[in-house]
Amino acid sequence: MILSPSLLSADFSRLGEEAAALEAAGVPWLHLDVMDGAFVPNISFGPPVIRALRPRCGLFFDVHLMVEEAGRYLEAFAEAGADLLVIHAEAVRHAHRCLGRIHDLGLRAGLALDPGTDIAAARWLAPDLDMLLIMGVDPGFSGQSFIPQTVAKVRAAREALDAWGRADVPVEVDGGVCLENVAALSEAGADILVSGSAFFRSASYAAGLAAFAAAARSGPSPQTQRRPGLDAAQAWRHAAPASQQKGK
Ligand code: DX5
Ligand code: ZN
Repeated sequence: MILSPSLLSADFSRLGEEAAALEAAGVPWLHLDVMDGAFVPNISFGPPVIRALRPRCGLFFDVHLMVEEAGRYLEAFAEAGADLLVIHAEAVRHAHRCLGRIHDLGLRAGLALDPGTDIAAARWLAPDLDMLLIMGVDPGFSGQSFIPQTVAKVRAAREALDAWGRADVPVEVDGGVCLENVAALSEAGADILVSGSAFFRSASYAAGLAAFAAAARSGPSPQTQRRPGLDAAQAWRHAAPASQQKGK
């Protein structure tokens, strides 16, 4: 399991120190929630904040674009230092073109699905995906309650990716993830877990990371240990800087 804490729940008055502290605690990824006030009813931050954080840490930047027609901003996010750009199936008219442009920029490309969007939305994009994000809440805010049927959806997403010949594509879950559902999500096939409010409630970042890791291991069948998608995602942050890579 890879933990990707959401910066949305960090202290906005000292984001640079927060990013450095997360890295020092051993956190591998940082989830950056970009909200435009149009696709979702909230506004967060954009490329300038990501650009300012880039020199402050070596975390893998997992950028979640809750933005209408995010294709308009891909170059700006690449230039700011994103490693992975995740677009929403519901917010872009031409997803295949967007994913291709993300790859052309040398970054990893992910697709996010809202709770009401069927996994079939990813079917014909599967050859072009580096990651599939399953939302556990309707996007827009931290601290919302986890939608329980997300566990079954994660299992179905894992099975579908495997059936589509993409066992190497990791599944990320975002929204409402907490210590109470980490075991079930890991067992169902989640490779990357995003956490905002639950993680930032931890006594310390190191304690939070340890608690999430222990909860992931406590599931009935720790499938995560043998999933190629997890290996692929873990390797990304040790690979050459995304800007020096082409495609996957
Ligand atoms: C929701 C965001 C999430 C959010 C997660 O729209 O995409 O990343 O910050 O926060 P929690 O874990 O509190 O649901
Ligand atoms: Zn998010």
